[in-house]
Amino acid sequence: MINAQDIMAMEMKHEARTYQKFPVVAAEASGSTIWDVNGRDYVDLSSGYGVAILGYNNQKIMNAIMKQFNTVSILHSSIYNETRANFLEKLSSITPRNTTTFYLGNSGTEAIEASLKAAIKYTGRKHMISMRNGYHGKTLGSLSLTHSDKYTRSFKDFIYNGVQFVDYGDANAIRELPNLDEIAAVFVEPVQGEGGIIFPGNEYLKELREITEEHGILLIVDEIQSGLGRTGKMWAYQWSRIEPDIITIGKGIGGGIPMGIAAGTEEIMNSLKLGEMSSTLGGNPLACAAGIEVLNQLNEELLSEVTRKGKYMISRLSQSLSESRIVREIRGIGMMQAISLKVKFIPVLMNMIRNGVIPLYSGISIIRMLPPYVISDSEIDLAVDRIILSVNEFENGTGVTQ
Ligand SMILES: Cc1ncc(COP(=O)(O)O)c(C=O)c1O
Repeated sequence: MINAQDIMAMEMKHEARTYQKFPVVAAEASGSTIWDVNGRDYVDLSSGYGVAILGYNNQKIMNAIMKQFNTVSILHSSIYNETRANFLEKLSSITPRNTTTFYLGNSGTEAIEASLKAAIKYTGRKHMISMRNGYHGKTLGSLSLTHSDKYTRSFKDFIYNGVQFVDYGDANAIRELPNLDEIAAVFVEPVQGEGGIIFPGNEYLKELREITEEHGILLIVDEIQSGLGRTGKMWAYQWSRIEPDIITIGKGIGGGIPMGIAAGTEEIMNSLKLGEMSSTLGGNPLACAAGIEVLNQLNEELLSEVTRKGKYMISRLSQSLSESRIVREIRGIGMMQAISLKVKFIPVLMNMIRNGVIPLYSGISIIRMLPPYVISDSEIDLAVDRIILSVNEFENGTGVTQ
């Protein structure tokens, strides 16, 4: 077997350098644990960027994929299929009222592209509103809705230039715009993920819904990171009791098989005409079979566990790190959590990995955590102990400090 160093060197040699790499070479994973090639275990607080919501190697999802694999695994959406039909039917029972027409693609960014096109066609308007520090993907259409200069600066001349950015969480910033009747859509994350786990409160989306309704603007809620139970409700917009026009779904929906979905009303989605949006593998039966099983497992009991465990984790972290001189704030909702630091995250994150925890990050000073929902209380305890050790090491100068 090839050793860890050689595996890393091979990837570094041949893979385009667009992914931030962590110093872990995974060999196996199950539930909330990843084992590296040397047999070391890591508590995974990343879910592979929010995908493994029901845990790694979820047996029922694997069975569903294998069953489909043995019947028909390759099938373009131009050919009808029972698994796809069942998936669409099942999905329609949990998406917002009337948003039961779906575009099936392979990633979050494609779901955003489809929504953007539908908004342009349905409204006949050219301008979009998106949020400062918001994230919607990196293909050129979705990139134009993504705020970070780090991601957009090299492509400013090539992205859709009709996007106005406003402060997140401040509905008045939109109310005061002079051209509201020219705006096609407002794109918003109910909780900003990449932006650092920012929950603007329940009133914000209500206010956005009021303004958008008044001006014939579509409200497009990006649930790619916050949806499918991540915040303790099936969709994070439900904390605000509103009805969006389109929601976008991604990450865990295909149980690890790539899938991204734009869900809108029939009139909005069908303003896209034949061939105006498609993808070779969109709606493939493997992703649909896995998707059915994902939806089967996302029941009320699991969602209330997300809330309970999320609160438990936040309270343990808050208690243990209250005296830390490098921790600014612990925050989160459900299984979307952040440790905001007074220092750059990199050395602390490196300590965490060395001590057997895999988190994510945001910006320059935020440790972001999106654990699998199936994480147990004892795994949370273990992860918190390892996080405390990592923070202490940084503070004492005994671990990675810069
Ligand atoms: C809110 C949000 N929108 C869109 C995307 C893009 O999804 P993908 O990486 O699958 O293209 C992401 C990915 O992190 C996301 O968090």
